[in-house]
Amino acid sequence: MNAIEKIMLENKAWASAKLHSDPQYFERQVREQNPNFFWIGCSDSRVPANEVTNTEPGEIFVHRNVANLVVNTDLNMLSVLQYAVEVLKVKDIIVCGHYGCGGVKAALHNQSFGMLNKWLRNIKDVYRIHRDEINAISNEDKRVDALVELNVKEQVLNLAKTSIVQRAWINNQRPAIHGWVYDIKDGILRDLIRVDHTYQLDPIYRYDENELR
Ligand code: CO
Repeated sequence: MNAIEKIMLENKAWASAKLHSDPQYFERQVREQNPNFFWIGCSDSRVPANEVTNTEPGEIFVHRNVANLVVNTDLNMLSVLQYAVEVLKVKDIIVCGHYGCGGVKAALHNQSFGMLNKWLRNIKDVYRIHRDEINAISNEDKRVDALVELNVKEQVLNLAKTSIVQRAWINNQRPAIHGWVYDIKDGILRDLIRVDHTYQLDPIYRYDENELR
């Protein structure tokens, strides 16, 4: 049996185990999804949203990309964000980075990765803003981890800059946005920042309230 045949077989085993322990499980899943959380995480295979939060299918709406970025021209991210906020009406958005992130590490170097350069450019911009703070750290891994944390905070603020979030804040006082970092060494999530409708966003990024309603 090859690896791809094995995961198809594992799927059958998973489905029948689920059904065995909870005969109504799939009937309930079919009816609706009603997640309270929207997770924006890194594509890294070691940081699966449900697994590290011990949650079930149906509990977290998920978007993942390289280095958990919120890029304001990314139609994919914006579509998922709009659906999460306006249709699913999630109460919390979580931006979750992780220490040792390969995307962040790559952005700190000068190697060219072709098309990926355009994506990593966003992280280089975060570095540029915090250059002195990061350069003051002598250990390379610690420099990466400092940028991982600063990148999470920057992406939380990028969410606050979207009209989708600002409209929801004006009309519904939700969602709260949380910036977390996951430590691959111990499996623990750490809370870095929490931003909600009371946050004083830099005025240049604030849209006219009457236009948003
Ligand atoms: Co990563």
